[in-house]
Amino acid sequence: MANNSTLSTIPVIAIDGPSASGKGTVAQLVAEKLNFHYFDSGALYRIVAFEAYKNNIEWNDAEMLGELAKNLKIQFSRNEIYLDGERITEAVRSEEMSSGASQVATHPQVRNALLDLQCSFRKAPGLVVDGRDMGSVIFKDAVLKIFLTASVEIRAERRYKQLINKGLNANYAQILADLQSRDERDSWRSAAPLIQTADALLLETSKCSIEEAVKLVLNAYEISNKKP
Ligand code: CDP
Repeated sequence: MANNSTLSTIPVIAIDGPSASGKGTVAQLVAEKLNFHYFDSGALYRIVAFEAYKNNIEWNDAEMLGELAKNLKIQFSRNEIYLDGERITEAVRSEEMSSGASQVATHPQVRNALLDLQCSFRKAPGLVVDGRDMGSVIFKDAVLKIFLTASVEIRAERRYKQLINKGLNANYAQILADLQSRDERDSWRSAAPLIQTADALLLETSKCSIEEAVKLVLNAYEISNKKP
């Protein structure tokens, strides 16, 4: 793997924010526009939760989870995720794994085990990443840091519509309660909590569309490029 000084010349746009804020969609579209690589860091915590579940490891067993996270054989290919050669793209996106991911993500043992893997996604010509600690911990030298959020009610409404459009059952009150408990866990944990750092730009999307959010990020990137 390239060393840090080589890597730091490769631009990173870090988009952090709470669940269902739309950061993944915005990050992917920004990456497409700029022809940059895209990496969804939340997928790693979902994979840890999924593999732990399969192996009967409790989501609160920090030591075992840390060992498991060190030895994952993950492959990302286009928009698909493979673990030990098995396609698990949809399996890791279930509501159960969303909750599991936010539980396994509280353990420093798990977060430390995933550090190098996350840094390895930094490749030319550039990288757009989304998560909770992309700008605050993993890519502190990102050229642009965005904190993308929306009110929890709006986020619950968006997730509700998403599920209904997919023909799935959805209960707004349940979704709202799940989001609230994940927000709380992500924001109040001691390891890499979700925070807006002083150098991150706040992007409140309660009243703005995905297209507008993408435009704002691209403008901010252009401006950051012009800075001496
Ligand atoms: O898609 P959504 O925002 O609901 O979740 P995600 O980005 O796939 O992340 C799943 C869980 O992983 C979150 O609830 C966080 O607890 C955790 N996570 C994290 O701790 N750090 C990251 N950089 C990304 C996700």
